[in-house]
Amino acid sequence: MTTVQTKPNKDLAEGFAQVGALFAGDDSNIEQIYRDHRANMPVMEGDICAELGAASFAGATGRPIYTIFKHADVMKVLRDTKTFTSGILMETGLGPFLDGLMITGLDGDEHRQLRGILQPSFTPAVMEEWRETYIRPLIKQSFIEPLVALGKTELITSVGVMFPIHVVYAVLGFPDDDTAALETFATKALKVLGGMANDPEAKRAAFQAFQELYEPTLAAVQARRASGAEGSDLISRLIRAQFEGRTLSDHQITNFVRMMLPAASETTSRTFAIMMTHLFDHPEVLERLRADRSLMRKVLDESVRHDAVATFKVREAQTDVTLQDVTIPKGSIISACVGSANRDETVFENPDVFDIDRKQMAAFGFGFGAHMCVGMWLAKVEIEEAVGLLLDMLPNLRLDPDYPPPVVRGVSLRGPDAVHVVWDVP
Ligand code: HEM
Repeated sequence: MTTVQTKPNKDLAEGFAQVGALFAGDDSNIEQIYRDHRANMPVMEGDICAELGAASFAGATGRPIYTIFKHADVMKVLRDTKTFTSGILMETGLGPFLDGLMITGLDGDEHRQLRGILQPSFTPAVMEEWRETYIRPLIKQSFIEPLVALGKTELITSVGVMFPIHVVYAVLGFPDDDTAALETFATKALKVLGGMANDPEAKRAAFQAFQELYEPTLAAVQARRASGAEGSDLISRLIRAQFEGRTLSDHQITNFVRMMLPAASETTSRTFAIMMTHLFDHPEVLERLRADRSLMRKVLDESVRHDAVATFKVREAQTDVTLQDVTIPKGSIISACVGSANRDETVFENPDVFDIDRKQMAAFGFGFGAHMCVGMWLAKVEIEEAVGLLLDMLPNLRLDPDYPPPVVRGVSLRGPDAVHVVWDVP
């Protein structure tokens, strides 16, 4: 593959910061608030995101909303897809911007079948192949090599916001020689997330951006089908994919690819930045990782547990259901607080401590159950490559003393605002 060196993209970085601000809210006392809820009111009638001033994926449907805080309840809700369905996501959250065709909002057989077609394209084995063919060369040549001689940078703008988008485009098999077009495309995808703002203009921009993503994506899918779709790229794999005799139409692939753009970039960018923040906050872990790269997965998993980027999962109760002695009426929205469940002291010892050696228990940073993130292995491999290459190629990488250290913050979407670093120029 040919790779191009990319420059930080101002529109993209601004869009990223705007989305972060929209979902940030007031998290100044969030650990204590969640601790109190787990102890005293683990099922709360109301939307904690709204109370804390953050945009909410539970949306404004006019239905009662219940926020749940305990690990056991979050697991129960995400596991039992009959009682707690996802179709409501077509009405709330991002659904309206995705033409009602997003996989996260499908239930039952419809979801099982689509997932069955998609899953084989996202296995760990495929990701290990892509690690070598697409991911490492791309991140190395386009993002890390251009930094080496600079000696300092801000990691979110120069690396974090950009690499997941370029990786997604590469694995989709899009040509990577038109960086400007690609990043305009990605800025549109971010606008879709911006449409969650309670502002008609932002919603209109989000709808328009999403419409504009359709034609070029469809053209790429049609071109790939016409040329035989034999490659190992994602679009070709999706064209060839079959499950129980079903295949995907060009329209379905286009819609999946379109929804993948906001799902795959924003989350990965923030998780990368969260992991770098934890590494700098814990120099002993950074030293261990420098000496032993086999610890990479543990550091990443603990980063995702400690600070999941997307902290709420939304479902609808299909029957009256009782959780922790609270009866939730049929038709209510349940907002499952992953940020709290991942710090539940009944499951995780010293839950607020960042500890890569802790006993592995189920955490929900990539979701859980039937809707668990289908792109999880892709996200993990690309973040591992980005972090590994930074450590390999930027000697003595450390925080820039001229800037405040990064802080992971946010109620609904978490991450640091900036990660300023310096290193020794060889
Ligand atoms: C660190 C990065 C990522 C995080 C933290 C993340 C998180 C999540 C979470 C929590 C869910 C579950 C949603 C729910 O239960 O309602 C999910 C679903 C999903 N994610 Fe990711 N994601 C990441 C990266 C990606 C990437 C790279 C892709 C690319 C393909 C992707 C595609 C999807 C899709 C298609 C679903 C829907 C699965 C379904 O409904 O069956 N994600 N993700």
